[in-house]
Formats: sequence, structure tokens, C-alpha cells
Amino acid sequence: VRLKGTEDIFGPQALCFDRIETSARAVFKIFGFEELRTPYLESKKLFTHALGTGTDVVQKEMYEFLDKSGEVVALRPEGTAGIVRAYLENNFHKTQPFCRFFYLGPMFRRERPQKGRLRQFHQIGAEILGGESPYSDAEAIHCLTALLDHLGISGYTVKLNMLGTMDERQAFKKTLLDYFKPQAAALCEDCQSRLEKNVYRVFDCKKEFCRAIVSRAPFLVPDAPLLPRELSARSHEHFDLVRKALEKNGISYRIEPTMVRGLDYYTRTVFEITHPRLGAQDALGAGGRYDKLVESLGGPATGAVGFAIGVERLLLCLEAPEDADKSFVNFFTIATIGEAAFHEGFRLLSELRTAGLAVAMDFQGKSMKSQMRLADKMRSRYAIILGDTELTRKIFVLKNMETGTQEELPLTEAVSELKKRTL
Ligand code: HAM
Repeated sequence: VRLKGTEDIFGPQALCFDRIETSARAVFKIFGFEELRTPYLESKKLFTHALGTGTDVVQKEMYEFLDKSGEVVALRPEGTAGIVRAYLENNFHKTQPFCRFFYLGPMFRRERPQKGRLRQFHQIGAEILGGESPYSDAEAIHCLTALLDHLGISGYTVKLNMLGTMDERQAFKKTLLDYFKPQAAALCEDCQSRLEKNVYRVFDCKKEFCRAIVSRAPFLVPDAPLLPRELSARSHEHFDLVRKALEKNGISYRIEPTMVRGLDYYTRTVFEITHPRLGAQDALGAGGRYDKLVESLGGPATGAVGFAIGVERLLLCLEAPEDADKSFVNFFTIATIGEAAFHEGFRLLSELRTAGLAVAMDFQGKSMKSQMRLADKMRSRYAIILGDTELTRKIFVLKNMETGTQEELPLTEAVSELKKRTL
């Protein structure tokens, strides 16, 4: 049996995956991103180092094992760490310091499965490496919304926040601890341990009594400044420019002062896209700036920003998912009766395929009825019917599977006639 939280993808869902990936490639091309495929398996160290030892992903969710070499390896839980490793290992930082990369593929997290949450899921992601410009933050968000627009997904919300540099985060962390620690006893057990590990995560707690404490925090009450005062003028200016650039791109957003994200590498801008169709797991995509990650993995000081979208969550938001049962595709099925017709059909099969037409036939001597059923199942636009009479007259019968109408055409013209009927 299939492992919990994994899926077999076929039929309409496979068509949707294909549509989404084709859209993503088209949008990435427009934005100037190049594909970078990194391995699914990496050294565990890469992720603990990049994502942070205190994060849920590293502490609870990674699939890891001891390789025979003695090294602990892990299935990638996300794409950014691998992209940064590849950027450095392939010397992009020396040869092409400013890069835009995209990736698509499976990620692995041992989470509790539910709607929109799997253990093997797929992400479409992009990373812009080599600059600190706030315009790159806006570009990443624009690319993400452009992909949603391309897929016809509407009704999403862009949420934005400014975390500050690592130093500013430290200062804000102290403010948070000064506020939460005296009331630690009133927080849930998880939040109490968050005070030790990562106080920012208290913001994400769903429990009513923790939320009440969060909402009373002096830095969050309604008339508090949107950004913590621990932020430098530079971070304020950065955020202003991101906002202005988004406005110039016609992207509306909402500032969420408690949005902190679950990975430690973020600095300054973070964002999240939510969609009402997703329910509890409402993040369709997320990302942000990570200006210290390249350096912390051994490279030169390099600004970077990126995002990732969950493909399974995109699927839940598609307005008109593919309907494999109804749509006819550019496919032909050859159906034959009798030995001689079978051989002619087999010859024709190869001729059509060589000409680039999509076609199949039955090799098991099935009845005409079940050959037509096969044509239906393959959603063939047309069936090519061949029997002894047709052979003697050097013709074939072409049946339109959608309308049921039939016509007779010369066998020698098969390729050109069928090409005319390909959409
Ligand atoms: P993340 O927020 O952990 O960010 O994941 C991004 C998206 O992946 C989520 O918004 C969600 O759609 C999808 N996702 C995450 N976990 C699951 C799951 N268990 N099942 C289904 N979908 C899931 C990152 O991964 C960062 N690497 C994004 C980034 C790129 N930041 C900068 N560059």
C-alpha cells in the first residue's frame, strides 16, 4: 500500500499537474528565470544549517537516514537550501553573481497529512540570488501572482511583513521575550517551549488563550506602528520601496505584523499568499528575503529572495480543473478487422507516428466494439477503421468520436488528411 501522505497522480490530476507546470515554465520564461534541478537527496547538514536547528521542519519533519558512507542524508524538505548550495558549488557566485533560478519537483516533510498537506508534495519555486534590491522582492511577488493569474486563480490575498536584518530580529526578539516571559504560565506548553527556541513562533499559535495574549501585546495593538521600532531606517526604507514597487505592479497586499514564517533563514521582507479555498492550510505560496544564507553556507555576502508554491494547493484553487472524461485530445486510434487489415493498420501506425501524429492500436485481436471502447478511453478525436473492403478499395473510414460521423478517405493520403484534423 501507498505510504501515508503520498499520492499516485493520474487522469485529470496528472493533466492539471501538466497544465500547471507548463504555465509555470511560460511565466518563468517571461520573468527571465532559468531552471536549476537539484538532487532530492542532500546531506542532512545542509538543511539543519540553512533552515535552523530549532525549526519544526528540521526537528520533526525531515526524512533522514544514515547512508552506508556514514553520512546522514535527508530527502529535501524544501528547495532554497539546495539552490544556494548549487549556486556556490557550481561557482555561479564567481561567473554569474546575479542569477534567477526556478525549480519544480517533489519535497518531503513528515507532517500530519490532511487536506492540502502531504508528506510528499510538489513545489514550484524561484530564487533571485545576488542582490539586495527591494525591487527583487517585488519581482518575486509579481512572478508568483503572475503565475496565479496565468492559471486563472483569483481571490487570493498577498500578505507582507518586514522582519528586519538578523541583528534587528535579535533586538525585536528581546522585546518579545520581555513581553511574553512574565506571562509564560498563561501560554500553552508548545508556546512555553517556543519562548526558549523561537519566540516568533508564538505568533503562529492557534490556541485562543495564546492568541489573546498576542493580540494584547503593546507592539500589536491597533494603533501601534505597523513595523516594530527595533527596525533600522534602512529596513523601513527597504519596506517602503517594496510596497511602492508592488503598487506600481498593480499588486494589492495586506501588512501582517505577526507573520513570521517557519524557516530561520528569512531576513527583512517575508510574504505569504493565502486562498479561502484552502481552509486550515491556507498558505498557497510563501517566501521572502534571505540575505545571510549564502554567506552562512560558505559563500560571499550575497542578498537573495525567493518563493515557493505548493502544487497540490494550487490544484485545490483551480477554477476549472481538467476534465479527462469529456475533453477529446489530438489522438487517433486505429481499429482493424481481420488479419490483412491488422498488418496494414500496423504499417499505418508506424507511418503516422513517424509523421508526428499521436496514435495507438490494439494488438490483441479484440472485437471492433472493444477497439472502439479503447478509442474512447484514450479520448481519441478520431478512430481509423480498416477492414477487408477498405483494403481492396485502398481507403480507410475515419470516424469522428465526438459527433459519430464517418467519412471515407484514400489510404495514400492518410498523413495529410489526419494532419488537417489535428487541432
Ligand atoms: P514554505 O512556506 O515552507 O516555504 O512552503 C512553501 C509552500 O509549499 C507552502 O505555502 C505550501 O503551499 C507548500 N507546502 C509546504 N508544506 C507542504 C505540505 N506538507 N503539503 C503540501 N504543500 C506544502 C518554503 O519551502 C521556502 N523554501 C520558500 C522560499 C523560497 N523562501 C525563499 N525562497
